Amino acid sequence: MLIAFEGGEGSGKGTQICLLKQCLESMGLDVLDIVEPGGTDVGKAIRDILLNRKDLDILGITEVFLFSASRAQQIRTVTRPALDQGKIVLSDRSFYSTYAYQGVGRRQSTELVETLTDFAVGDTTPDLVILLDISPEIGLARKKDQNEMNRLDGETLRFHKKVRNAYLTLAEMDPKLWRVIDGEASIEQIQARVKAIVIKALKIQS
Ligand code: TYD
Repeated sequence: MLIAFEGGEGSGKGTQICLLKQCLESMGLDVLDIVEPGGTDVGKAIRDILLNRKDLDILGITEVFLFSASRAQQIRTVTRPALDQGKIVLSDRSFYSTYAYQGVGRRQSTELVETLTDFAVGDTTPDLVILLDISPEIGLARKKDQNEMNRLDGETLRFHKKVRNAYLTLAEMDPKLWRVIDGEASIEQIQARVKAIVIKALKIQS
């Protein structure tokens, strides 16, 4: 089962994935956590260009290709093999980030984003998407406190608001796939919600 976590900056995906992984492992389940972009040596090199090279003026269209390239490599060498071994894969972001950030935030063509996504992931798409919804003001303030600002975090508040709305629209369009959690709740409250959602989804699948 492939579970993707989505959300804006500072929404706490990483923390929740870590807690969920521990919880599922304590139940004897085999879990792999992965991060996009990254997760392979090629992905890490692409991640460095996309997030750390603030000196580069990377076009929106180029971002679509680079995020998709990292994803294509990861799906084939890490994600698909793990799923074939029966693992539960928890993914920090997925192609839905490209839909929200590049498609809506950067106003890149939907056709381009969908076509590259199709080539990159094929039929390895999430079985469940958990959206940690948070206002960009709060999320970005958290990131600034942690001194973890990357090239995309530095975008305008307007950009991040568009990304948030894009996520909420995606979730609204496919309520069977998406679950929306208030990312401004406490870590413990979010953890409990995530656990309940995932346990239910696993029972339905098995
Ligand atoms: P990261 O440091 O992993 O932050 P976060 O904890 O917010 O996920 O940075 C990933 C950044 O890349 C984040 O700003 C969102 C952006 N991104 C895209 O713009 N498109 C994508 O397809 C992906 C996967 C990420």
